[in-house]
Amino acid sequence: MLSAEENQLLTHVTGDAPMGQMMRRYWVPACLSEEVAEPDCTPVRTTILGERLVVFRDTNGTLAVVDERCPHRLASLALGRNEEGGLRCIYHGWKFNTAGACVDMPTEPGAFGFRDRMKLTSYPTHEAGGMVWTYMGPAADMPTFPEYDWMKLPRNQYAVIKVGEPVNYAQAIEGAIDSSHSWFLHQGIIWDWKKRAETSMDTSPKMEAEDTDYGFRYAAIRVPVQNPDTERYIRVTLFLVPYTAFIPRPLEKSKTAHVQIFVPVDNEHSTFYGIFFSQDGSVVDEDEIRRDHHTVPGVDLDRNWNKFANVENWFNQDRAAMKNGSFTGINGFSNQDMACQESMGPIVDRTAEHLGTSDIAIIRMRKRMLEAVRRFQDGKPLIGLDPGMPYDKIRSEQLVVPVEQPWQSVGAYAGEYKPKAEART
Ligand code: FES
Ligand SMILES: [Fe+2]
Repeated sequence: MLSAEENQLLTHVTGDAPMGQMMRRYWVPACLSEEVAEPDCTPVRTTILGERLVVFRDTNGTLAVVDERCPHRLASLALGRNEEGGLRCIYHGWKFNTAGACVDMPTEPGAFGFRDRMKLTSYPTHEAGGMVWTYMGPAADMPTFPEYDWMKLPRNQYAVIKVGEPVNYAQAIEGAIDSSHSWFLHQGIIWDWKKRAETSMDTSPKMEAEDTDYGFRYAAIRVPVQNPDTERYIRVTLFLVPYTAFIPRPLEKSKTAHVQIFVPVDNEHSTFYGIFFSQDGSVVDEDEIRRDHHTVPGVDLDRNWNKFANVENWFNQDRAAMKNGSFTGINGFSNQDMACQESMGPIVDRTAEHLGTSDIAIIRMRKRMLEAVRRFQDGKPLIGLDPGMPYDKIRSEQLVVPVEQPWQSVGAYAGEYKPKAEART
């Protein structure tokens, strides 16, 4: 439970809201690379932290993330013509290059001073992990790009899904780091469900959490089916400030590992990017993953990446199926998560909840995010942006270990890395 003030501090990300201002100090996905695959491609509309942007790749292949609004009379540049080294507004023909400079102003020939003053906001870009990332903060504060290990894999060893969610980012994260829901909500369809059920049927795991330099991690500690007296089944999930979760890697190494990123669109919407990557070097079939997760563009999702199954049509919940073995009657992993998250309303009233022992990670995430934003307000170094951070060593895990082995040894994060003491104060 949070106070109304804390809930607002946690969830509001637009305009001057401190959380949004803090988030601008982190690299953020702007769209999928496939959306802007070719030079002179169709521009992509995206909104991040309440700011309307357009992503395009120009004739030379240079990527740009710029203000969506044409500075003339604010028509959308997403409707613009992407050609000959820039984006031309279709309203009166003003044209801008990837740096945001106005390179042609046909309605004002000769007014070069006026033209030169016209500039779109243009943010730095970085392409990695099947996504175009951008940085929307002050140039002087731009951190190292977080090069996670899966970004180093060949493109055919990971899949990326993208879905728009009409809920606040924190609500979506609370679904991602909520270990106890998967035994109910996703019953039977988790990709390593069978293996997990064989390993343990303990539905009330002991939960423990601890802060880390990137955010926090927590363990769900279960009594295993075999050797219940001498072993424990431990699943360690990581939360990286401000909006990334590393889900425990499946026990079977032939199954894909999973990372989730929840980009705040505005206070009441977010964009989910889910990455599924190979643990054993095998090829990952992206089309199959998208089909499995009911996130196929044009089939499950509209042009804006929003689901056709939504709160208006009750997520197509099938009551007959619920009588015949389906726990939820809702098809698809993501739809199940989003049905529950969206059913709470766009910003859940956290003053009205009743949290239990299974909600330790939820409580920790809020506490850590509130700490993060207060550090930002106090001008202290931000969580997870230490320049020495070995992002490629951050990993989640699940293992069965001897009962005396500390859970912190599972998915050990970069044992060799110790943040500088002054960066933690
Ligand atoms: S609104 Fe874009 S050129 Fe006029
Ligand atoms: Fe889930």
